[in-house]
This record gives sequence, structure tokens and C-alpha cells, in this order.
Amino acid sequence: MVGLFDSSNHQNDKEVVLRKKVSIIGAGNVGATLAQLIAQSGLADIVLYDIMEGLPQGKALDILEATPLWGVSLQILGTNSLDPLKGSDIVVITAGAARKPGMSRDDLLEINASVIKNVSENLRELCPNAIIIVVTNPMDVMAQYCWESACFPAGKVMGMGGVLDSARFRTFVSLELGVSPEDVEALVLGGHGDQMVPMPRFTTVRGIPITELLDQERIASLIERTRSGGAEIVSLLKTGSAYYAPAASTFQMVKAIVLDEKRVLPAATYLDGQYGVEGYFVGVPVVLGGEGVERIIELELTDTEREFFSVSVNAVKTLVNKLRNKD
Ligand code: 2OP
Repeated sequence: MVGLFDSSNHQNDKEVVLRKKVSIIGAGNVGATLAQLIAQSGLADIVLYDIMEGLPQGKALDILEATPLWGVSLQILGTNSLDPLKGSDIVVITAGAARKPGMSRDDLLEINASVIKNVSENLRELCPNAIIIVVTNPMDVMAQYCWESACFPAGKVMGMGGVLDSARFRTFVSLELGVSPEDVEALVLGGHGDQMVPMPRFTTVRGIPITELLDQERIASLIERTRSGGAEIVSLLKTGSAYYAPAASTFQMVKAIVLDEKRVLPAATYLDGQYGVEGYFVGVPVVLGGEGVERIIELELTDTEREFFSVSVNAVKTLVNKLRNKD
């Protein structure tokens, strides 16, 4: 009989670590909440990095002390050095300034670009095989800048925005119809900015298109609320932007990669001719798995959808070009 304390039952001589390593750049509200979600699920070991002394260490220790209560066992390290990122499987970049009331995501362009550039160049050295998820705003542009600075393969860098925007659209549809948000599926395309494109044709309640359940006017107002969903939270909080839903959205993407789930999710990805876009990061549905963005799903858009989509893409292009002209 093998007893509980029989050493032959354990791998004493060699530590076997099967968990993936997820590094989070930025221990602010989004980064720390994401760390909590990953820890609570026991999904991966975590490195939480921030330039502010004590902040990542304190938050990491606090989360570690919750693990006995959550019944999970993993490692979490808080650090002010980028060295522990070495060998990361996934890196999530949340660092940078958040907007204040009255600011758009685009107003953060220059402040956040320098943070992204510095981090991305380091990633090239520290974890060249990692998959990078960019959350920092203006997200599509920062994903592109990260990809260009890190020189990673296109499918290994992506931006989080579409999952969040779709979650907001799902929430507003569920409130409007009085049905569970779980039964609402939604798709939001384009950039994660004020011109994002919620797609009613691909938004359904258990497969029933919302165009069968709501009139045009109601749908238009839900689209408008989705587009300004981030600003609505900023104007309520006054001192920062949303983080529970952004962290939950990022967690869904991290999980899809760690568990190779092949989830179909909207993400900002490098378009190489798909949707008529050449050389820019824009939000479209992708298959997300262990290799990162494994496939781009190309939908046939109607004339109106294409018009909205191109307004959103042009907004992203304008910001990318603004940044290029500055460099
Ligand atoms: C949002 O939409 C912060 O971009 C994020 O709330």
C-alpha cells in the first residue's frame, strides 16, 4: 500500500512543472484583476511586473495568500525587473496610462507608445516564443506597435478589445430583452475605438438574430451604448477606466491559448489582405489556440457593414500613421 507520506509516491528528486507561465506587464487594476482570475482558476504560474516599487510584490503576495482558500497551487511572483519574464509562454501588456473623463482612448497614443516600445523590445530577448496580448490603449495601434518593436510572427501578437466590446453588447442586449447574458452571443468588429462596429446580423439570442427580436431604433441605441461603453465607466469612476470586464475578457483569451481551446473570438490581429485591409491590426473573428491566432475568419460584409468597418479601420490607420510620422 502506498501511504500518504510514502516518498515513492512523489517526484522528490526533480521538480516537474507542467503549468504555463503567464507574465503580466502592469500591476494596475486590469493587470492585478487578471492575475487574480488566473490564480483563482489555477490556470498558470504568474509573473506580475510593474515599475512601481512594492506594488507588484504586494499584490502578488496578497493573491498568493488567497490560494489556500481558492484551493489552488501555483507560483506568483511580483517584480520590478523584467528578467523573470524569461521563458514566458504568454505575456499580457496592460501597462500605460488609463484615460480620464472626457478623454478618448486615442488621446493616450503618445504617452503609451513609449511604454509599449520599451517592453516589446525586451520581450524579443527574454521570451521570443511567447504569445503577446496587448490591452494598453489605443489598443489596435499599440498591438501593431508592439508587433513591430518585438519583431514577432504576426499570429503571436494580438490585441484585446473585441471580446470586451462583444461582452458589453451581450450585456446590453440581455438587459433590454430580460434574458440571461449567457444566452446572448455577439460580434463586434473593427478597432477598439469610438467607431467600433457592433454587428446585429451576427448577434443572437440562442441562435435567434436580434434583428428578429428588437426594432431598428432599439438596436441602434444598444450599438451606441456599446460604442461608448468604456467612456460610460470612465465617467462614473472619474479616476480611472473599467477593469473587471477588461480583465475577464483578457482571461478568456489567455485560457483559450493555455488550454489550446480553439475558441472563436474577436481579436485585433494583423490583416494581410483579409477584409480588404493590408498591413494593419484590426479586430476580426479569429480562432484562438495554443499557437495564438491560428486562423482568421473572413465574413462577407454587406455594403453598410463594410462602410462602418472602413470608417473604423481608417481611424486605426490614422493613429498608426501619426505614430510613424513621430518616430
Ligand atoms: C475599455 O473599453 C479600458 O479600453 C478599455 O473600458
